[in-house]
This record gives sequence, structure tokens and C-alpha cells, in this order.
Amino acid sequence: MLDVSAHREVLLDLAKKLKAPFFYYDLDALAKHAERLNRLPVKLFYALKANPLSSIIRTLHTEGFRFDVASIGELEQVLKQGVDPKDILHTGPCKSYEQLEYFLEKGVRIFVLESAQQLCDLKVLSKLKKLPVQALLRVQLIWDSDKENVLGGGGCQTPFGLLPNEWQEVKANGLFNDLSYLDIIGLHCFQWGNIVDINELKLIWTTITKKLIHLSDALEIDLKVIDLGGGLGIPYHHNANETLCLSEVDQALSELKEAYLEELGAEYWLELGRYAVGEYGGYVSRIVDKKTVNNKGLLITEGGAQHLLRPALTQDPFPCQLLREKLDSNMQTKAFHVHGPLCTSLDKMGGYLFSEDVSPDDYLLYDQVGAYGFSESMPFFLCHTLPAEVIFQDNKVHIVRAPVGAESWLK
Ligand SMILES: Cc1ncc(COP(=O)(O)O)c(C=O)c1O
Repeated sequence: MLDVSAHREVLLDLAKKLKAPFFYYDLDALAKHAERLNRLPVKLFYALKANPLSSIIRTLHTEGFRFDVASIGELEQVLKQGVDPKDILHTGPCKSYEQLEYFLEKGVRIFVLESAQQLCDLKVLSKLKKLPVQALLRVQLIWDSDKENVLGGGGCQTPFGLLPNEWQEVKANGLFNDLSYLDIIGLHCFQWGNIVDINELKLIWTTITKKLIHLSDALEIDLKVIDLGGGLGIPYHHNANETLCLSEVDQALSELKEAYLEELGAEYWLELGRYAVGEYGGYVSRIVDKKTVNNKGLLITEGGAQHLLRPALTQDPFPCQLLREKLDSNMQTKAFHVHGPLCTSLDKMGGYLFSEDVSPDDYLLYDQVGAYGFSESMPFFLCHTLPAEVIFQDNKVHIVRAPVGAESWLK
């Protein structure tokens, strides 16, 4: 977890110097976490969509991670950091023939296939180019659960893969014939994001494992891999009940592996995003205005949904604290609604208790924003300045991206 108190003064200095909202990442702490993650009894990929910053990629690469990439942009970014294309897995429901061809040309040899079309395209391409490739078929299950999840857990159909019976139809239609250069080595299923309860995760993983083993029999696949995707959650409310303990994850995976995979000679893969990097990033934004509307205290801040979209998407605020030179613990606290600068009331960062004398020119400091922050936002709306990005590494501070004004990208 990010040690905010250790960085308070540096953050205040940076805020004054950069004069714009900024993200910061503690790469020393991330490296330690990555080293511990790498002891899990699985093959680990980092899902680049969580945070594609080059120094984060390099930190995880050094710690032995492979990479899950979902676009040509992500591919170029990992290759630029010196990652061997053989350590790249290409996932995602939108892969055109041309995109698959591009990935092959760049040396990528492992693909998650999400449709009959992707299977046909890769079959044709690998044969044409005489390139042996490995593939996992992505499966979506219908869950007996009253919960819903944006990744499809809970019953709604999604673009992510096919149902088991649909893969069986694909086979019945002859599309598994004459695969020649294409080796289907396993199955992939990921439908539940941000799970913090180990018992829930165990239930999800057990269900997936049993159903995928069953499906691999029906499809006559020599199952070598079950890819469980991501989905490990982080404590967005700093609540001990919400903290997923790594040793419990380790134990759950070891037990499942022993019970189901060892006799098959198969292994688990994980594509971690949020749990890999989420806790190692913070975001700082200046308070610009303070007012009372309908008896409610409001703070308007420079940064909001244009840099951090998750609260608007999920109505779930990030943890946030006041960042100022001296915190007076005797001061009364008061409830404030924090709004970003966009012209929509959806740009609400959350409701918080702050010292009642909070004022314009104080800063707010959000944590748990290392994943799905900078790259999962809407930075161009209203032409505000793009946020800076700063890393803390080897006890030094590096500004890796200065704030970028709209004049540089407006046409
Ligand atoms: C295919 C795939 N793998 C991995 C991830 C990472 O998931 P998480 O951030 O929950 O670890 C995602 C996230 O959407 C995904 O779509």
C-alpha cells in the first residue's frame, strides 16, 4: 500500500511546481509487491490496460512478469520496453484479421480467441505464414448469482468469448479441423472484477475450473492451461474486511491446482491489473472553490472525471485526504461533496469528511489509483490540461510526464 505520510512534503512541493493535477506511483513499493506476487503458483501476466506507463512495465518486467495486451498501442508500448514478444499474450474481443497479422509479424505467438471469426483468422494466418501459434479459447459462463458484474458475471451476455455450447457448435461446424499450425492449449474465463473476498474468489475459480475441464473433454482439447484472467480486488475503502491477503490467494490457487490440474499436467495463468498496481498510485488535485449549496458543503477541484473516471462510472469514491502543510487535528470536521471541473453533475468524486476550514489552494490526495486511472478517463472533455505523471524510484522523484495543455492536441 502507498505510504502517503512518507511522501506528504514531496507531494506538496510537486503540486506547487507542476501547477496541475498529477498522478504519482511508488515503484519501489510496487517492485516489492511484484516480487511477492511472482511466488504465486501460476504463470503471471500483467494486464497492461490497468496502467501502461513505461516505468511500471519495466518494473514488472524486471520482476519476471509476462504481459497481456489488448491493442496495437499496448503491444508497441511493451515491445519498446524490451519485452520479448514470446512473453506477450494477446487478449480482447476486438481483433481484426489485420491486427492478428500485425501481432504475428511482431513475434507474438499466444492468443486468446474470443469468437469463431478469430479462430478462423488465426488458423488461416498461421498456416499462410507457417508460424506455429498457441491459443486459448475464451469462455463465458451463465452464473447462478443475483450479483452483476461489468465483465459478465451474473448473467448478462457480453462480447467476451462464447458460451460452452457455442464453442461446441463451432467444433461441430468443423472449425477445429485442420488446425495445422494452431495449437489450442487451453481455455480462458474471466467474468468477475474487483473481488476482495477470498471465499468468493475460491467459489468462482472452482466453478470455472470444473466447467472448463468438462468443456475441454467435450471439445477434445488437451488442456494445458486454464487462464482465470484478473479480478483480484483492492481495498478501495481501506477496510480490513476488503483486503485480499496474498497468502490466502496463494493457498487457494495451490489447493485448486493440486485438486484439479496436477493430474492433467495443466497450469493456471492469471492476467493481473488492479491487484498488481492499483495500490501503488496516488493522485493530487487542487481545490479551486468552496461553497454551500442547499445547505451542503461543496468543493470544486481542478481534477475530476477527466482524469479519474471510476467514481462517475461506479459511484464508488476513491479514498481521499486533505493535503496541506499542517493538519490541525483539533479542527472540527465537516461533510463535503467533491466535484471535478466538468459540466456534468456526474463529475462527482465522492462525499468526504474534511477539516471544516478546508479552503481553496488546499490539495486533495486520492490513493488506490494506480490501476484504471490515467488511461481509463476522459481527458479531452472541456480541454483541461492533461495530468502530469511522477514516479518515486530508488528514493528519487522523476517527473515522467509534464502537464500537457490543450493547445498541444487541439486541431
Ligand atoms: C482480458 C482481461 N484480462 C485481465 C484484466 C485485468 O483485470 P483486473 O484488473 O481485474 O486484474 C482485464 C480487465 O478488464 C481483462 O479484460
